[in-house]
Amino acid sequence: MSLQTFGRTKMTIIEKLSVEHGVFLKLLDYLEKLKGDRSFLDVTGLKHVIFVIANVVEKHAEHEEKFLFPKLRSYIGPELNRIQAVEFEHGEIRKILAVIKKNNDLRAVRLEAAKLITFLRDHIAKEESVLFPVAEQCLNPEHLQVPCKSGA
Ligand SMILES: [Fe+2]
Ligand SMILES: [Fe+2]
Repeated sequence: MSLQTFGRTKMTIIEKLSVEHGVFLKLLDYLEKLKGDRSFLDVTGLKHVIFVIANVVEKHAEHEEKFLFPKLRSYIGPELNRIQAVEFEHGEIRKILAVIKKNNDLRAVRLEAAKLITFLRDHIAKEESVLFPVAEQCLNPEHLQVPCKSGA
């Protein structure tokens, strides 16, 4: 996230999404410790933590899909495959969560949680290093403003 955020009255959508990424990475660190703790045997508790994280990640993904990707798609034709790749990953993350939701076996939930952590970290890194810089280059400042009704 750009330090230029400070001293301004509005964040851009990219800055908002980047701040959220930072929070998700901290939450994933917590989840990684919890799922690796062999004395923690509460599968319901582990699933609860996963879905607290999943709920905020889902809102973030919907925001990207609704406000960022469509704008990007219309501006960066040749880079379309990059958007398709991250959209595909949103689907993969949702699939992992669906498996966790149906599962009550601690070992299986730990394994899926490990997949989720790896997948989400990789996804965030890809958006931060590839997609967001492209968005900042291609979209004009007006398109990057956080929408008024985003709840931000
Ligand atoms: Fe995403
Ligand atoms: Fe994201």
